[in-house]
Order: sequence, then structure tokens, then C-alpha cells
Amino acid sequence: MSSPRGQFSSRIGFILAASGSAVGLGNIWGFPTNAAENGGGAFVLVYFLLAFCLAYPALMAELIIGRHTRANMVSALQIISPGKTTRLLGKLTGFYGIIVAALILSFYSIVAGWMLAYLLEPMVSLSGLPGLANWLTEFSAPRNLLFCAIFLIVTCAVISAGVEHGIEKWSCRLMPALLAMMIFLIVYVLTQPGAVDGLKLYLIPDFSRIGDPKLILSALGQAFFSLSLGVGTMLIYGSYLRPDDNLPAMGAIVTALDSSVAFLAGLLVLPAMFVARHQGVEIYTPQGALMAGPDLIFQTLPALFKTMAGGTVVALLFFTLLSIAALTSSISMLEVPVSYTLEQHVASRPMATWLSGAIVFAISAVIVMNFDTLFAAVVTLTTHYSQPLLGLMLCVFATWVWRRDRVLEEIRRGLPDVQHSLFWRIWPGYAKFCCPALILLVLAQSLMN
Ligand code: PHE
Repeated sequence: MSSPRGQFSSRIGFILAASGSAVGLGNIWGFPTNAAENGGGAFVLVYFLLAFCLAYPALMAELIIGRHTRANMVSALQIISPGKTTRLLGKLTGFYGIIVAALILSFYSIVAGWMLAYLLEPMVSLSGLPGLANWLTEFSAPRNLLFCAIFLIVTCAVISAGVEHGIEKWSCRLMPALLAMMIFLIVYVLTQPGAVDGLKLYLIPDFSRIGDPKLILSALGQAFFSLSLGVGTMLIYGSYLRPDDNLPAMGAIVTALDSSVAFLAGLLVLPAMFVARHQGVEIYTPQGALMAGPDLIFQTLPALFKTMAGGTVVALLFFTLLSIAALTSSISMLEVPVSYTLEQHVASRPMATWLSGAIVFAISAVIVMNFDTLFAAVVTLTTHYSQPLLGLMLCVFATWVWRRDRVLEEIRRGLPDVQHSLFWRIWPGYAKFCCPALILLVLAQSLMN
């Protein structure tokens, strides 16, 4: 059963879809909480450095391979491999990417389900159903399963509509809404008393922390997670790009948009914490560290919203923002196994979508039922280790395995004089030697700690 390959209908469609993939819970939740945990401004500085110096080159490797091969990651890495051994390695790397994408989606959809539950809570409370409202915000396996399933069903519905009518259409609708909501919330929070203390912590770096290995590993993992790297999402989005699009520019725009939204989210969340403190909400743990992780999103901020004038609307907007961000990312994750299944010609798009969705839900259910043992382990394994490692492999494939003249030819299609550009002077050597070495260095350092 063969089906024609999808393609983004416009440049802006690709930019919004790829930045929709990139902008997600990683930006709005992960980035500010990582910053809160790792000394505020110091983390922000290291993050930006790594995003542009390590993650952007790896993103380019994915986009170039994707657009040239017009295939999913498993086939793509085989297509660019000249020898038997490298083809086998490509196949294995591709499968590793698909498995990691499915694992990420399985924990991501649990967390996104929490956002949906918290989104409903204010409305349920207002309708005079306190029992149900409590159930929505209390941690329980039935709630987690139900909302994870709802979130995955919405994700499947978008993906089964295809590239142009699903991914592109919804990214173009949701991304502008997300930005507008975010800016409104930032302006609102910054006008509240106490916000300035949060701004100071966020924007003034504590230089003594910049060399901290924990901070560097967190920033690296965050940068790779945030740009959706390594698992083939950007590769497959690149494969839906038109041949005449300028790849280095597209990649740079997506990196800049993603980092800007992360930066904006910090402007929202950290000042909001200090506004909460001003209102008497505890924002430090008993050990004296700033609250981070789930406590921050599900306790500190909702407690703050309750004290604010118009807090119900603010809470509603905040959790809608998180849900939208999660959806535009989850569709890109699901597209990875779906495009693979489609291109093996074994199923139609809707069938491939619902089948992949069902498998992901089964994994989510196992995680939900063994939450304490599995959740954090899956997050660490996939995002801290597998994504950088896969990013490294993609750099290796694009620069060591693939022929350099073919790479050049591919970029030239959208940028005829790339040979004389700064990008071509730096990227090939940089992605060949520096990126793999730096990624290995950070990973080795973290394993030794
Ligand atoms: N980039 C997304 C975020 O920041 C997460 C993601 C990871 C999406 C891997 C696709 C693939 O939330």
C-alpha cells in the first residue's frame, strides 16, 4: 500500500512546525526549572552557548540528511552509507532513534495529561464540583491513564490527517496562539509585586557556577531535548522540506525561535515564583534550594494563581499554554514511528498512526503503574544520554560516513553559493570533529560523576 510523500506547503509552515516540535514542555517547564535549579543566569548563559555551538550543528546534520534522502531515519542513514558495515550501523542507529522517540512520547504524554487535568480544574471548581476538582489535581493512576490516553488520542488525530493538513495546519494555528498567550502572561506577572527578585536571579549570572559539571550536563541535555534532536523528528521534518529551501537559514531560525521561547518562559516562571513568595507561598525546599520540577508547576504556581486577581483566567491560560506546547511537540514525536511504518508500505497513514499511538500508550501505562521506579529512569536514559549520543551519531553520519560533495550538493539546492559562505567554512569540520568530541566529553564527565 503506497502513499504519496507529504510535504510542507510553505516555508513558514515548516518553520512553525519545526519550532512547534522544538517548543514544548522542555522550554516552558524544563528550561525555567533547570535554570532555577542551576543558579539562574549561569545556566541561561551556558544553555545559549550549547544551543548554538552544539545543538545547531547537530540540527543541521538532521535537516540535511532528511531533505536529501526524503526518508525516515532508518532508511535515511542506510541511503547515505556507502558500505555494508555503515549501512548496518545506520539501520541500528535509526531503530534506536525510533525507540527513543517512542519512549520520550510515552513519558511526555503522561506529563501532558497532567497539564490537561490542571487545565480543566479551574472550570470544574467553578462549576461547583469540588470532589472532581480534587481528583483532577491529585496524583493517581486512573487520572494519569485517562488524561494520557486523551492526550494521545488528540495527537493521533492530528497525525492521521497528514503533513500538510495535520502537522502544518495545526502548528500554524497553535504556535501564534502560544506566543500571544505567553507574552500576555509575562506582562501580567512582571507587573506584580516581587517579580523583580525573580528577574534578578534569572538575568544576573553567578559566574562561579558556570564550570559546574552538573550544570553543563543539564544544559546539554536540555538543549538537545529542546531542539528535538537525535530521534529523527527533525530529520523527518527536513524530509518534508522543499528542495529549494535554504537549510542553514531554516535551521538557524528554528534554533533562534526555540531558544527565544525558552528565554521568554524563564521571564514568566522565575518572576512568578518570587511573586508567589511575596504572597507568602513557600518557594524554597527545606534544603534551601529553589523549588523545581513538578512541585513548582503543580503547587507553587497554582498557589500563586489562587492569590491573584483574575487568577482563574491566568491558571487557565497557563495550562492551555503548556498543553498546546506539548501537543505541537508530541505530534512530531509520533510522526517518527508513523513515517517509518508508512514508508515500509505496510499500512495506511491512519492505521500506522493509531497502531503507533496504541503501542506508545501501552508503554505509558507500564510507566504509570510503576511510576516511582520507571518514570525518572526513562527520562534520564532517553533525554540525558540517548539524545546526545544519537545527535553524535547523526553528526558522524553526516560528516564521516556521507560524502562531503553530496552534502554540499544538497545544501546548494537552496543556497547556490553556500561554498563561499561562513556556514560551509565552519560546519563540516566542526560537526566532524568538535561536536562529537564535545558531546563525548560531557557524557564521559557525567558518567564519571
Ligand atoms: N523539543 C520538545 C520540548 O522541548 C521535546 C521533544 C523531544 C520533541 C524529542 C520531539 C522529539 O518539549
